[in-house]
Amino acid sequence: MKSFTAFFTILFLVSSVFAVPTDEEIEKKVNELLSKMTLAEKIGQMCQRNLWSPQISDQLANDLKNGQVGSFLNAGDLDMKNRLQKIAVEESRLGIPLIYGRDVIHGYQTVLPIPVGQSCSWNPELIEKGARMAAEEASANGVHWTFAPMIDITRDPRWGRIAETWGEDPYLTSGFAKAMVRGFQGEDLSAENSLAACAKHYVGYGDAVGGRDYNSTFIPEIQLRNIFLPPFHAAVDQGVATLMSAFNEINGIPATGNKFTLSNILRGEWGFDGYVVSDWSSMTEMIAHGFCKDEKDVAEKSINAGIDMEMVSEAYRDNLKTLVKEGVVSEKLIDKRVGNILRIKLRKGLFDHPYTSDERQPVILSDEHLQIAKDVALQSIVMLKNEGTLPLSDDQTVAVIGPLANAPVDQMGTWSMDGKAEAVVTPLVAFRDMLGQDQVNYAAGLESSRDTSEEGFDAAVIAANKSDAVVLFLGEEQILSGEAKCRAFLDLPGAQEALVKVITELNKPVVAVIMAGRPLTFPNIEKHLDAILYAWHPGTMGGPAIADLVFGNASPSGKLTTTFPRTVGQVPIYYAHKNTGRPPQPRDTAVPLGTPLDPQGFTSKYLDVDITPRFPFGFGLSYASFDYKNLKVSPDWMSKDGVITVSADITNTGQVQATEVAQLYIRDLVGSATRPVKELKGFTRATLDPGETKTVSFQLNAKDCGFYGPENKFIVEQGDFKVWIGWDSAHGLEGEFKITE
Ligand code: GLC
Repeated sequence: MKSFTAFFTILFLVSSVFAVPTDEEIEKKVNELLSKMTLAEKIGQMCQRNLWSPQISDQLANDLKNGQVGSFLNAGDLDMKNRLQKIAVEESRLGIPLIYGRDVIHGYQTVLPIPVGQSCSWNPELIEKGARMAAEEASANGVHWTFAPMIDITRDPRWGRIAETWGEDPYLTSGFAKAMVRGFQGEDLSAENSLAACAKHYVGYGDAVGGRDYNSTFIPEIQLRNIFLPPFHAAVDQGVATLMSAFNEINGIPATGNKFTLSNILRGEWGFDGYVVSDWSSMTEMIAHGFCKDEKDVAEKSINAGIDMEMVSEAYRDNLKTLVKEGVVSEKLIDKRVGNILRIKLRKGLFDHPYTSDERQPVILSDEHLQIAKDVALQSIVMLKNEGTLPLSDDQTVAVIGPLANAPVDQMGTWSMDGKAEAVVTPLVAFRDMLGQDQVNYAAGLESSRDTSEEGFDAAVIAANKSDAVVLFLGEEQILSGEAKCRAFLDLPGAQEALVKVITELNKPVVAVIMAGRPLTFPNIEKHLDAILYAWHPGTMGGPAIADLVFGNASPSGKLTTTFPRTVGQVPIYYAHKNTGRPPQPRDTAVPLGTPLDPQGFTSKYLDVDITPRFPFGFGLSYASFDYKNLKVSPDWMSKDGVITVSADITNTGQVQATEVAQLYIRDLVGSATRPVKELKGFTRATLDPGETKTVSFQLNAKDCGFYGPENKFIVEQGDFKVWIGWDSAHGLEGEFKITE
């Protein structure tokens, strides 16, 4: 008996040493700390500083000792982070550890494709794996907290930050938001290889007027709730540790000073108990917005709205003490804000393990991580066109031409500050590895994507003429994508179109691989290209992934998650649009691009371009072909708490194994508020051998068909619905069902 008891005693002791504290224990610790903290120490926790310098100044050391800093972003290397932490933990009065933030957006030193590219995989499990990899690498370098996932919805490719989004659809983005939070935070947020995640930018940032970054947004509550809030709700439901407030104003109230979104919805409706950090000086920018008169007003409005931590600007540091002394802000409110920060620091385990050892450094750029990066890139690339040219055979001589054929930094895309250019495998290198040096003729043709000089064209023509086929690498440099990189035109920059014209006149098969941070328009050259692969900015292993697809070692499976316009004049253009009272008619789809020719009719259309997009949401080609048949909707009705099953058979009618992403869409024909002509409600990846048939089946709950109605309340209404299982948002097998009382 004694040995039995002894065994459990040891087990308890061991587990208690490593036990993750319970919520109750954490709350107890939060309150204990708050009861001991001075007002100055509390305000210190609400201040995040940026630190580019590799030195710790005497002033900074002093501030740390006085508990004046709660967090850093960009705080140098592992050694620097541990040195700063040592001062905060061992030389300050209460030893509250710092939390280190960093923009780990799509990978860390092993860089994944940009998020809008990753989203075209329609593979949350794989995306979660990529986020886990990023957490392993960043945490090994002392990062505790990533400013990701960015889960803004946008329908405007002029906006540079579309690169960071997961596409235009709230349902799809919500799934990726959950996957990213799971990947970053893991099963145990307190584990040393986990990162606290940060859902950003809360909220509506991607709906900026004119697609211009930081610009105003005017979003009715019903639209906020149906389109822009759902991914954040999903992230909160998944347990995201933090959120970041956005730069934009929403209907006149800046997101960073918006009590309705930051408190009423985030805390009141969703019960979020982590903390909210402002964006970089987004608090003090409320003066420029014309919402605050000075920094004291900024501090008061921000803390009342729901900002717990101020990124970089110093309104809290310089004004909160006075506001409390004047009785304008209560210390109770300060305690609430600081309590949110302490809660996450405790959940992150920073009090138990504030320092990071260097023993985990070898995970960075490991073979396993490079393989994950390649797998994600493979599934992110979308084939937009192929008239039998692809795949090329590897016994051909291939010309590799274009400004993005051998551009490691550009290939990593925006927000890849920790990426290692020397680790990037470019398409040129990958093609040479695969075919051998002699079978690849290379000419950049242009120095960069913005290069307007045609001096390099002759060398490009020579390379093409010496080759059996040409692969042109076109698109946008990294610097043309991301924050504040908005464009009023969506064309290929520089003299790229001229390069395409010159090369495609040589009567060689020409494949274009486009690397870009947004959907681009290329109507003038598309018809001259035999095949088009859209690779986004594919990250460290983009080259080998592209080579595998071009030479048929794998089949493209990516599907677009953003609508591709025919011209920028169609923007905003998206699949889940409303029908209007005068929907476009078939004749409105035959309008050629350019000069208005036939100004007839009174429908919602343009006189000078086809009303439909160039490539619809959900579109993507494969080396196989797929036949959809036998749609079944059973039963074809359900009550408001019911469920139906929608299924179809998909056959691979091609010659190679390939993966198809089947998509489930619905349409609510009549609602108390109008509903979109289509809404994505499910998807699945089906890998099929040649001739193989699989039945894809979806469970559709009545709740899935609900929406926020005119009263801004979530409702499920009875009525008639259409349903599709499709290969993109414009094509599929159509069925119908009813929701009854
Ligand atoms: C920014 C970005 C935000 C980023 C932050 C810290 O301006 O808007 O996404 O996380 O600064 O770098």
